[in-house]
Amino acid sequence: MLSRSTRNKTANSSSTDVPPETALPRHVAIIMDGNGRWARERGLSRQAGHRAGTENLRRLLKVFAERRVQYLTLYAFSTENWKRPKREINPLLRLIGRVIDRELQSLHENGVRLVHIGSLEPLSDDLRGRICRAIELTKDNDTLTVCVAFNYGARAEIVEAARRLIRDGVAPEDVTEESFAGHLSTAGLPDPDLVIRTAGEMRLSNFLLWQAAYAEFYSTPVYWPDFDETEVDKALLAYSQRVRNFGGLNGGSANGAKSNGRHG
Ligand code: FPP
Repeated sequence: MLSRSTRNKTANSSSTDVPPETALPRHVAIIMDGNGRWARERGLSRQAGHRAGTENLRRLLKVFAERRVQYLTLYAFSTENWKRPKREINPLLRLIGRVIDRELQSLHENGVRLVHIGSLEPLSDDLRGRICRAIELTKDNDTLTVCVAFNYGARAEIVEAARRLIRDGVAPEDVTEESFAGHLSTAGLPDPDLVIRTAGEMRLSNFLLWQAAYAEFYSTPVYWPDFDETEVDKALLAYSQRVRNFGGLNGGSANGAKSNGRHG
């Protein structure tokens, strides 16, 4: 485990298997994939896979907080996920309601701030109310911000930002990357440094298309319910060894390494 004391010790030693604190990402975004395959391989229902995925998330929030990650964005339900059969969607929505009921107090006591991106419109009044109350209750917490992307799609978010700019009467010459980002649902959150996708796929699937422009991408074949503390540390170590140039030369690397990469 990469506890605070271990990391401090390691930062002063020549060990290469854990990253120094300065090379850890501030914002990690995760595409939690593979619940269904995890369940199928065990002869279980897809719903059991989502339950196992949810349990895993509960364990990992603590791990990310211990690693001093400040922002965690989780792709919980995409706008495309509505295409799944109702027999999968309805229990998943109920599961999310139950997680809020069961975990909210402990998340609040541990300083977790919950935020949401996406549209809550198609949800029942009851579930929408529970999500809004959770956001309101935790809004002043500052240990870890957990941003739940629920009924979220990045293209829809970008279109909505353009509409808001127009509604706000922003002149074309005042549309800049900064003013545009300020109209996205993630306004006020830093861009993700690291995007993790479990279960082996190598695509963003309409997740944070604007915000992840310079994020490091890490894909692992491990299914989400099995993505444990050791896997988190592998991802953080991989991140710490990447060179981040942001399009320039040799600047901004996570670990001070140099590269001749052309695309940043
Ligand atoms: C992808 O697995 C997972 C989802 C669509 C749901 C993710 C949701 C959770 C982990 C539950 C709770 C989340 C919160 C924030 C309370 P998949 O079904 O696409 O798996 P497959 O590709 O193997 O079929």
